[in-house]
Amino acid sequence: MRLLQTRADLNDWCRGQTGRPLHFVPTMGSLHAGHQQLLQRACEVVPAGRPAVLLSVFVNPLQFGPSGDFDRYPRDLAADAALGEAAGAEALFAPSVQELFPGGEAQLTAVVPPAALRQTLCGPGRPGHFEGVATVVCRLLALVRPDRLLLGEKDWQQLTILRRVVADLALPVTVQGCATVREADGLACSSRHRYLSASERDRAAALPAALALALIHISEPTRLPP
Ligand code: PAF
Repeated sequence: MRLLQTRADLNDWCRGQTGRPLHFVPTMGSLHAGHQQLLQRACEVVPAGRPAVLLSVFVNPLQFGPSGDFDRYPRDLAADAALGEAAGAEALFAPSVQELFPGGEAQLTAVVPPAALRQTLCGPGRPGHFEGVATVVCRLLALVRPDRLLLGEKDWQQLTILRRVVADLALPVTVQGCATVREADGLACSSRHRYLSASERDRAAALPAALALALIHISEPTRLPP
């Protein structure tokens, strides 16, 4: 797998893929089984042919709040490269902040999703988060120019907002959402689980259990005990 650390490396690699569909999986690294599945889906042959699959690892400062975990966010590029390669990625774009935002973060043109999406659900509790996600993803899309962008359904709000941004800006990319991958106790795989203590982890597993029960309440209430 090719490691691409500059925009020039990325351009060269992308030029070499001419004629193949280009499928892109952006991540913040610390890859797990959910990312592995995104990459495997990205490798699937489409009518346009066998895709070239690009993985990116970039811990995006724009999407962390001032008291967020940007500095301690887990980073292990060698492990990410090994997982990415085993899952079928042909190249890994891992730019520095300076390389991706050469004019500085403060000078960037920001992409601001519609208020109706930013200001609902977890948006108000994470000021600037969805703008940060939309801005970095648009920047990556402009550099990579992929045919297909693969994102996990685990981050449903992010997926919804990015679908909307892509549609509103008429970006020439297909957004493909991929099913959530879960651990044995039902918890969705996430890079941040390593922050949880054993008891927090046990409590977190109550969430998917409650959601599964809610689903039965809604869709098959006759299965419930009287
Ligand atoms: O889901 C993530 O890992 C990030 O929010 C993304 C889409 C890579 C943007 O930084």
